[in-house]
Amino acid sequence: MHLPDFREARTRDKREYKSVVYQLNAEMKNKYHGKTYFIKTYGCQMNEHDSENISALLESIGFMKADSYLDADLVLLNTCSIRENAHNKAFGMLGRLKHLKNEKRDLLIGLCGCMAQEVGVVEEILKDYPFVNFVFGTHNLNELPNILDKAIEENKQQIEVHSREGDLYEGLPVVRANPYKAYVNIIYGCDKFCTYCIVPYTRGRERSRKKEDILKEIDELIHDGYKEVTLLGQNVNAYGKDLYDDYNLGDLLEEIALKDIPRIRFMTSHPWDFTDKMIEVIGKYPNIMPSVHLPVQSGSSRILKLMGRRYTREEYLTLFHKIQDTVPGVSLSTDIIVGFPGESEEDFLETLSLVEECKFDNAFTFIFSQREGTPACKLKDEISTEEKEERLQRLNEIVNHYFLENNQKLIGTSVKVLVEGISEKKGMYYGYSETNKLINFSSDKEIQAGDIVSVEIIEAKTWSLDGRVL
Ligand code: 5AD
Ligand code: SF4
Repeated sequence: MHLPDFREARTRDKREYKSVVYQLNAEMKNKYHGKTYFIKTYGCQMNEHDSENISALLESIGFMKADSYLDADLVLLNTCSIRENAHNKAFGMLGRLKHLKNEKRDLLIGLCGCMAQEVGVVEEILKDYPFVNFVFGTHNLNELPNILDKAIEENKQQIEVHSREGDLYEGLPVVRANPYKAYVNIIYGCDKFCTYCIVPYTRGRERSRKKEDILKEIDELIHDGYKEVTLLGQNVNAYGKDLYDDYNLGDLLEEIALKDIPRIRFMTSHPWDFTDKMIEVIGKYPNIMPSVHLPVQSGSSRILKLMGRRYTREEYLTLFHKIQDTVPGVSLSTDIIVGFPGESEEDFLETLSLVEECKFDNAFTFIFSQREGTPACKLKDEISTEEKEERLQRLNEIVNHYFLENNQKLIGTSVKVLVEGISEKKGMYYGYSETNKLINFSSDKEIQAGDIVSVEIIEAKTWSLDGRVL
């Protein structure tokens, strides 16, 4: 048994890590042939992509995907810790699984992802959730076949969570959820330690993959007919800092842009690490999508300081406008937290005025959530729940107003869309534009998923646009 420990998780040192090529134990291959699995994924794209690796690891030992958790022999929850409601959802699901296990004695239940890295969660599982068969963390996905095998063979709960990141595993198998759009990890972990955020504790220190490994994966994706790659990291802008003296995200983007891949995206970018070279490269290559997710978190320099964000309101705005001026037609999106401890009405109004200035194309807005073990958890939180909810609502009204206003500007223009398929609800084709807007559209011509088509925009809504193929 290995239990997590946040004190250990927050340590950062110059310890070398290796890239190791993953290999399945030969005797595990297809060992569980005929069994079925279901993964419920919470949280960000990192988790979604981890679930693509987890699916493939399970399939390598013989499991097949079930359509619903009700039909599966194994249900695995890939969890998220970022806010309390993500926590509550996973525990709610564990409650439902407890009932299911009363009826299906052989049901296997596993928990992994960010919540598995939290001491409190693991203690709760040990105490009150004996029916959970195994828990593993974000640093040891590669051990899943062995941990699961041990849980089955020994018929005993397995808790295998490492607080410190180990080696980087290359060549993990993957079953991708989309045949045309692929996620590619470029950097793991985060060293920023924003005071509200649990990610540096659950995902460990920043570790970049070697550029050769990333470029090889992209070559394989191109060979397999993928049209879009999204480079993933908690903070992609820190790419390369831990490995190279003179090679960063700008250089990586440029090398990928010279390949025959129609669409390149990347997320998420911390404003602190955004260099002029990156902006220049994003503006220069038409296959780097003009879409930047640039979380601001607050419009008040005082709150940004308390958040440990390392930039002021003015510095954010300067960067924002530099990107807007350099990258033609760029869309910028953001994340905003309201109700951070000590946020006054004046601070909040500064957030609203920043939104008025930036007119974001998309924004994810949250109420501050206390995360055990983070510095902000210890700050006095005197704002009432009603006040926080009211601020969120006021903020949402303004951000939504700009989503619609920006979308309305597109009426009558033509946008390029990567076709995903036909939406069951609307009976229309759908896909995403270069600026990552959801487009529903009709077509007189025969088109297929994976095509990139030009669509004339006819109608604008807050979160999508309607159009027809030209
Ligand atoms: N409370 C509320 N929102 C948070 N985020 C991260 N931590 C917290 C927290 N404790 C938000 C930030 C981040 C996004 C992924 O989640 O806005 O950019
Ligand atoms: Fe969390 Fe800040 Fe790292 Fe983003 S940059 S993952 S908000 S600590």
